Amino acid sequence: MKNVLITGGVGFIGTNLAEFLLKHCYNVYSLDNYSFGSKQNELKKVSYYNLDIEEIDQIKQQIDIGFHLAAMARVQPSFENPSEYFRVNTYGTTKVMEWAKKNNVKVVYAGSSSKHFDPSDSPYAMYKFLGEEVCKLYKKTYDVS
Ligand SMILES: NC(=O)c1ccc[n+]([C@@H]2O[C@H](COP(=O)([O-])OP(=O)(O)OC[C@H]3O[C@@H](n4cnc5c(N)ncnc54)[C@H](O)[C@@H]3O)[C@@H](O)[C@H]2O)c1
Repeated sequence: MKNVLITGGVGFIGTNLAEFLLKHCYNVYSLDNYSFGSKQNELKKVSYYNLDIEEIDQIKQQIDIGFHLAAMARVQPSFENPSEYFRVNTYGTTKVMEWAKKNNVKVVYAGSSSKHFDPSDSPYAMYKFLGEEVCKLYKKTYDVS
């Protein structure tokens, strides 16, 4: 049975993905700092880590696939706090890819359709776009799948 880590596992998409993966017999782990996601979204069979994305190295469980959904996920508030959006959405993705490289984990990244417009329209769009570029970098340079 494969072990799957969902970052942002108590968020909107993370919760639904966890439910789907449980139904398909995966072992599901979640990393989330509960800044937006809620404890009420927790599911019985999922193991939860209350960690910031920068602390992903603390997960010692062997993981096969990581779904990287954790992010500051809204456009409007990103104008007020661009540095935090950069920290979580771009630097946080770098930490995830570094962890994936070290532990030989395949990664699925939740991009944003806003990259198909002008990423400089908002800090959210820009830092999600850069997160995707970081994934490409690790794929091409370090062979992370
Ligand atoms: N919902 C959409 O329509 C949509 C569209 C395109 C892309 N996405 C992307 O999909 C992903 C999930 O979106 P969502 O709608 O479920 O958002 P969400 O806000 O419901 O979930 C994001 C989760 O990330 C967690 N998080 C935030 N900062 C964190 C940090 N520093 N460390 C650890 N966890 C942190 C939040 O607590 C939350 O549970 C995001 O990456 C988002 O950019 C969503």
